[in-house]
Amino acid sequence: MKNVYIETFGCQMNKSDTEHMLGLLDEIGYQSTSAESEADLLILNTCAIRQAAEDKIFSYLGHYRKLKEKRPGTLIAIGGCVAQDAGSDILKRAPYVDIVFGTHNLHRLPDLVLESQSLNKTIVEIMPNLPQDLPEIPIIRQNKLSALVSVIYGCDYNCTYCIVPYVRGREKSRGIEQIIQEIKDLNEANFKEITLLGQNVTAYGHDLKPQIHLGHLIEAINQQTDIPRLRFLTGHPRDLNDEIIAAVKNTPIACEYFHLPIQAGDDRTLRRMARGYNVDFYRKTIAKIRQQMPKASITTDLIVGFPGETENEFLNTVKLVYEMGFDSCNTAAYSPRPHTPAANWDGQISFEEKMERLRYLNNVVTEVSYTCNQAYLNTQTEILVEGPSTRNPLKLTGRTRTNKVVNFEGDKSLTGKLIEVFIDEVHPWALKGKVRVPVY
Ligand code: SAH
Ligand code: SF4
Ligand code: F3S
Repeated sequence: MKNVYIETFGCQMNKSDTEHMLGLLDEIGYQSTSAESEADLLILNTCAIRQAAEDKIFSYLGHYRKLKEKRPGTLIAIGGCVAQDAGSDILKRAPYVDIVFGTHNLHRLPDLVLESQSLNKTIVEIMPNLPQDLPEIPIIRQNKLSALVSVIYGCDYNCTYCIVPYVRGREKSRGIEQIIQEIKDLNEANFKEITLLGQNVTAYGHDLKPQIHLGHLIEAINQQTDIPRLRFLTGHPRDLNDEIIAAVKNTPIACEYFHLPIQAGDDRTLRRMARGYNVDFYRKTIAKIRQQMPKASITTDLIVGFPGETENEFLNTVKLVYEMGFDSCNTAAYSPRPHTPAANWDGQISFEEKMERLRYLNNVVTEVSYTCNQAYLNTQTEILVEGPSTRNPLKLTGRTRTNKVVNFEGDKSLTGKLIEVFIDEVHPWALKGKVRVPVY
């Protein structure tokens, strides 16, 4: 066996792609290593969402170049969203890279590796689209409890700040039979939690014949498997229709957890972002969810310092966080991206101003998360035990159905079990609990 080391940046889609790369490479005799210095193949799976993510790439590549010098014959490959965008331009700055591949041709990785090895030459292969018939790609999962299952690729929106449609292409759903089969296999292998993945997962099925929606998929998984927990990520608010909300409510395995990025709490900004909804539409969607599932947790993504965002408009985002009472928010300073209209607009906000807005917003987000978590104090709740906490290996950590982290003292043998805990302390980012009766 040869060794492969993969460094993964970006979202859950990239994490899932890395697991597929490991599955594919296994078929040509590569096993995963956690030691870069022992790798015969080093892969960077890149993210282009913000400039900061992109900036890291060349320092990693420089480091890999040194590893390659120490271990001649080592191959360096770069894939993911930056590679999809930059293609052979990567070689201008890093000519020592052996393979450049994109987001649409993962399935070709073994061939590209073998070709580069045998011909001893650099290979660049970027495809404009996913194959017409999606190949079923082998996978080696990094987490043995909780599985990421891609159900739709790409994005048909064109938010004016976002590079994703450019690097991931148009929406394309996987067939429901293939998804159900994959989840049945995960069920057999004793996985406890499935996260259905897509850049716009709430659009699942609209391109299939016959057309279906995410609610149908959720119901089918519930009927045909015994997976205890099901989640989905990330949904565009416009596509979260009443049927999907009803399916989550009526399907016992579907967790009461909605990650619904709003991006800004101001109508003019939302319009200029081309999000396709206003604050009131979002407000009504959240009201529908809470009316049916009062204890649902709702999380979001927010961008500050979008070009032309006034201070008042920024404060509307702050007010929205208080009003919605988000359980947590991923916040980011706007970063101008290539191939996106907003990058060329007047009114770009200075770095200092963006950072000040971000700091201000993050303080509010922490305060609001802490307030949300108070509702868990002195209550009993079910968690899926993930194992020893990375911060404090003497403690165990798990997650509620609402995706809250719970730290507690207990025996390692509880790992992988669904148990009841009593919450006796809350913090903004995590809860602390005591073990109650195991339920499974
Ligand atoms: N498809 C999801 C979001 C995927 S991208 C949706 O539309 O809801 C993940 C997050 O990255 C986005 O929600 C957004 O908050 C952030 N993001 C995207 N482009 C960005 C940019 N140019 N600058 C800063 N943050 C950005
Ligand atoms: Fe990007 Fe908008 Fe698509 Fe989300 S919906 S991936 S933010 S273009
Ligand atoms: Fe980044 Fe690509 Fe995901 S740009 S956020 S890794 S789809």
